[in-house]
Amino acid sequence: MTATVMPAVARSRADLAGLLSSGRTPVVLVPTMGALHEGHATLMRAARERAGVDGVVVVSIFVNPLQFGAGEDLDRYPRTFDTDLEMAATEGVDVVFAPVVAELYPDGVPHEGEPSQAVTVQPGPLGDVLDGASRPGHFRGVLTVVAKLFGLVRPDLAVFGEKDYQQLTLIRRMVSDLCLGIEIVGAPTDREADGLARSSRNRYLDEEQRQQAATLSRALRAAQGRASYGVAAARWAAMSVIKEEPGVELDYLALTDPGLGELPDFPEAGTEGRILVAARVGTTRLIDNMTLQF
Ligand code: PAF
Repeated sequence: MTATVMPAVARSRADLAGLLSSGRTPVVLVPTMGALHEGHATLMRAARERAGVDGVVVVSIFVNPLQFGAGEDLDRYPRTFDTDLEMAATEGVDVVFAPVVAELYPDGVPHEGEPSQAVTVQPGPLGDVLDGASRPGHFRGVLTVVAKLFGLVRPDLAVFGEKDYQQLTLIRRMVSDLCLGIEIVGAPTDREADGLARSSRNRYLDEEQRQQAATLSRALRAAQGRASYGVAAARWAAMSVIKEEPGVELDYLALTDPGLGELPDFPEAGTEGRILVAARVGTTRLIDNMTLQF
């Protein structure tokens, strides 16, 4: 039996630069906010596979204040560094980059609406819809920190989960529009046995809420089953499931094309789409999405 090797931990930009100076390639980055779970393990596994034996897998663990709005869960977001490190070791991660806030925001966090000289990444119109409409400034925060991580790690590839589908779409767009030359790999959503998408925020749910939360994936599956009858039929199928569960407070349910653009009412047979949902269960905001085949 081979012993698990703990990843090297970088707490500062200087430590990180030192650990990445070997010149090994490819460098594969998995950006996370920690509180790692089986879904992250899937991302790390995909990263290890793409890096091969010669490459380097870097996992960043950073709860990014810029992507949390006022009144959101920044302060109570789970921080579980020791178990995160163990999981990273199990998945063969080479380097964990876990900076303090001042390493990434040396001039302070440039919150929306507050005076700041900082340059940040504006997501464009796609950042203002769906989750962006409910969480103003969220995607500016996400893209800004991801751009910083790209600048510090200089990865050849970066792996993100499809669970945050709008985030993944915007990151692909940023890489393309800003000519960053990084391959973005989207990893399929990891699910519990009853279909609930794995998320660090599932830890906030009590047993009853945990059962209610599974309604979201059931609703998306119901829509998949009706997609061949058109957009309205698929939407109706999903809504019927959600309405049966009063514990689920819907934020949005959207049917889009794969790029989050509009769909015709009756897409041609074989057209691909996406269904996305956000809802509150208790005080916990959950999101999920699936493909649709019309
Ligand atoms: O998906 C996440 O965990 C975060 O939004 C990310 C990409 C690590 C940026 O903070």
